[in-house]
Amino acid sequence: MRKPYVAGNWKMNLNRAEATALASAIVKAADHKDIDVGMAPPFVYLDAVAAAAKGSGVHVAAQNCYFEAKGAFTGEVSPQMVLDVGCDTVILGHSERRHVLGETDQMINQKVKASLAAGLKVILCLGETLDEREGGRTNAVCERHVREGLKGVTAAQMASVVLAYEPVWAIGTGKTASPEQAQEVHAFVRPLVSALLGKPVADAVRIQYGGSVKADNTFELMSQPDIDGALVGGAALKADSFLTIVQETRKAKGLA
Ligand code: PGA
Repeated sequence: MRKPYVAGNWKMNLNRAEATALASAIVKAADHKDIDVGMAPPFVYLDAVAAAAKGSGVHVAAQNCYFEAKGAFTGEVSPQMVLDVGCDTVILGHSERRHVLGETDQMINQKVKASLAAGLKVILCLGETLDEREGGRTNAVCERHVREGLKGVTAAQMASVVLAYEPVWAIGTGKTASPEQAQEVHAFVRPLVSALLGKPVADAVRIQYGGSVKADNTFELMSQPDIDGALVGGAALKADSFLTIVQETRKAKGLA
């Protein structure tokens, strides 16, 4: 069985004291023996959150990074810096990076390759907008995100990659994809990974669902066979709701 993975994407929220308190509460209470748990604070709080998580096994992720190791790239942060500050993971290709900040598939692919080469684990996000879904282009868009995002990534490197299906219309909107809608896309992505990188890789890769995941819809979503965890935004900002999502995931996967 694939080990489920629940990660909190804190986006551009919280201050230093709040981030540290949330991290400490999660590290203290999260039952992560049989499940991966991660938290992705803003860059400026990575240091504090990594210190709170040190030695706990809870993953700390950056929400983005650049693809160069160093140099004249004002405002950017390299994969090496992310590692140096105590993180083991980076989220790449989030829809807010794609649609608000204008990141292209090609840039995201460069970031994926640079991050893996530096020794980071990657959570690669994919997902269609409402227009794309209504225009019948969901599979084509998800296929492009996976194909382009993973270009040049080896089967061996895939052990450090988690995919996150996040339909853009479900992010921060309170509109969750139904478990069936999410499962349908996950069940489309897995054979695609198989075609690109082989069946063992496809069978092993975790595919998280993200988009208005909350304590009360987690069980149903996580009960789907190809949904291996969650990437949680709003509901990850409070320890109670995030910890409940972790527990509900464990229950749905028969671990509790
Ligand atoms: P949401 O965000 O849970 O607030 O919808 C999910 C995400 O963007 O990762």
